Amino acid sequence: MCEQDFIPGEYEKSVPLGKVAWQSPSNIALVKYWGKKKNQIPANPSVSFTLKNCKTITTLEFQEKEIKGEDYDFELFFEGRKKDDFKPKIKKFFERIEQYSPFLKDFKLLIQTKNTFPHSSGIASSASGMSALALCVMSLEKKLNPGLTEDFFLKKASFLARLGSGSACRSIEGELIEWGEHASTAGSSDLFGIKYPYKLHEVFKTYQDTILLVDKGQKQVSSTLGHNLMYGHPFAEARFAQAHDNLDQLQAIFEMGNLPEFIKIVESEALTLHAMMMSSNPYFILMKPNTLEIINKIWEYRETTGVPVCFTLDAGANVHVLYPNEEKDKVLEFIKNELVVYCEKGQYICDLIGKGAEKL
Ligand code: DP6
Repeated sequence: MCEQDFIPGEYEKSVPLGKVAWQSPSNIALVKYWGKKKNQIPANPSVSFTLKNCKTITTLEFQEKEIKGEDYDFELFFEGRKKDDFKPKIKKFFERIEQYSPFLKDFKLLIQTKNTFPHSSGIASSASGMSALALCVMSLEKKLNPGLTEDFFLKKASFLARLGSGSACRSIEGELIEWGEHASTAGSSDLFGIKYPYKLHEVFKTYQDTILLVDKGQKQVSSTLGHNLMYGHPFAEARFAQAHDNLDQLQAIFEMGNLPEFIKIVESEALTLHAMMMSSNPYFILMKPNTLEIINKIWEYRETTGVPVCFTLDAGANVHVLYPNEEKDKVLEFIKNELVVYCEKGQYICDLIGKGAEKL
């Protein structure tokens, strides 16, 4: 499919007013997206576990305007409060998707949104937030064009979400989503995320992710700025090639449930992401001392107990602790006894792999 396939034709119906709502989860990348080209095209393919508990719930109310198609007319409420400082981001999103969802200008919109995870937890809400909004936009399109197929609906939702925030395109479905052209993955695309099309071992289908909140502060570096630092980065080409290679290797690992090899790739990806940040110009360090304490504790625990627990990181200091469901009791005990001290106010969030967004 290409971009043109997402430009709608004539609408079948007119809808004076209505309301749609979606909840959409966050996701955690195993192979990281870091670096992008024009129009939110990723510099390398990535793959992520869709999460279940960390999600955004968004309601979109719409009413046809008397004078259609002038400018966007919308109000935004976050957790029940009017949130004008979020509006520029949403407006930018609408502008980016304008040719694919031109009908948005024909309606007066009321967007109400909230997260299930604490605000300012350092958890990026752009993946869940943008995917929930993209799905609401698609539900409105479906009211205008009831003939849209389920498959097209989900693809276009992912396509639109990507234009809001790259990683958001991996939050529409579950459990494992790949985004970005990759020679060994049939159907992979730079334009939207696809469900991982090969065999996934049972162990991964209930994988756990406990998010340790090391630093709940605002992000030091926006991801957009971070991605841009991959332009002219001395290690960029090698890094992009490595992501392709890691995805190649993961195919057999996902199939066989080979946890030692899974751990090697996942931890290396996390550290490489941070290594890219540390070696860009300007350079920055997003890990905190407690991030390193936790990593060392996880290594020590794995070494002494043989429990296959590992970590991954986003572009921040928080640590995602990944482990199989059958190790849950042991790992939670370990987290409570040894890792919680490194969390800000002792806070952490228990999540697990999920199946994607749901219409409400
Ligand atoms: C480190 O999706 O937040 O989490 O497209 O600029 O919105 P934008 O970037 P974003 O970048 C996510 C980067 C990452 C890795 C990943 O999720 O793959």
